[in-house]
Amino acid sequence: MNDDIDDETELGFEPAVSATGASEDTGASRTRRRSRRGGLRRRLGATAVLFAALAAMGAGYAAFAGTSGASSTGTSQEDVQAGHQLYQVSCITCHGANLEGIRGQGPTLIGAGGAAVYFQVSTGRMPAVGQGAYEARKPAKFNEKQTEQLAAYIESIGGGPQVPTGKLRGDDKSLGDGGALFRINCASCHGTTGRGAPLSAGKIAPGLYDANDKQMYAAMLSGPESMPVFSNNALTPSEKKAIIAYIQTIKASNDPGGAGIDRIGPVSEAIVIWVAGIGLLMVVILWIGARSQ
Ligand code: HEC
Ligand code: HEC
Repeated sequence: MNDDIDDETELGFEPAVSATGASEDTGASRTRRRSRRGGLRRRLGATAVLFAALAAMGAGYAAFAGTSGASSTGTSQEDVQAGHQLYQVSCITCHGANLEGIRGQGPTLIGAGGAAVYFQVSTGRMPAVGQGAYEARKPAKFNEKQTEQLAAYIESIGGGPQVPTGKLRGDDKSLGDGGALFRINCASCHGTTGRGAPLSAGKIAPGLYDANDKQMYAAMLSGPESMPVFSNNALTPSEKKAIIAYIQTIKASNDPGGAGIDRIGPVSEAIVIWVAGIGLLMVVILWIGARSQ
């Protein structure tokens, strides 16, 4: 009886006896079992630590991979189908089986176009979590490829402005024009430095420093929430690119420094090497540890 309590407090739980093969509670086998259990417990503990560490690193890598995936070139019929599947899992409850929208849940997406989908999904605003609340930028749920697939599907049904492609930033010569156009068209809401500003009715125009070129272009094409749509008549493609060049320049000069993960390309490769390397190292360490016991 005493022994039993001892056993339990030591381990914190009653271990699975069958794991050791012992079944008789005789004094001798008990001591042996106890020490074997100790070894098993240590190894199980080490394995758990290894798995926890690997899982954590995997999650970390997934987070980086999600934000730095290479952009796809063109979309195919398979992309449309893949997008349809993603849509049915993540969007249909609010936007309806035929993009018609659902009253009180979400608006129709017919005519929204790939640009709106790209903007909403790549900035993590969609899929929306709650109802009615302002959808702020958050970590994207889908990677670049999946986002393009969702855009391809929604565009294939309802048309609308396409996902912008190619080089979307004007060169240095366009900075002057970009600045002037920014002050006329964007600064009233986003502030003269692009840091964002409150709008009426408790809404805000967010800061622009988190957005990449493609998201900025897509925002202008789709006009999310109370932002106006800047069609190609309102701002020609080269004017849009000039504005993007200007925003990225003031962003860079206002950057407080530190690691700007989302703007470095090779970082994802480095992380793969790092994850694989550290993981391997841990396996070796644990193996040596197990051998020496
Ligand atoms: C919980 C409900 C909900 C879910 C799930 C959801 N949405 Fe939305 N969606 C909304 C609401 C509400 C709005 C309008 C408010 C806004 O723009 O913030 C919206 C707006 C949009 C817009 C902008 C429409 C326009 O005309 O500019 C797009 C594009 C969009 N959603 C795409 C998606 C996609 C793609 C998914 C799936 C990955 C998705 N949504 C999942 C509720 C939802
Ligand atoms: C009438 C006010 C208004 C004007 C003018 C306006 N915007 Fe916006 N903008 C908004 C609002 C509101 C949002 C937030 C939309 C949302 O969260 O769905 C936004 C969002 C954005 C975003 C997304 C930022 C992010 O990363 O979350 C970008 C980029 C952007 N605007 C660029 C521009 C550019 C470039 C111009 C000028 C060509 C411009 N906006 C003009 C109101 C405005």
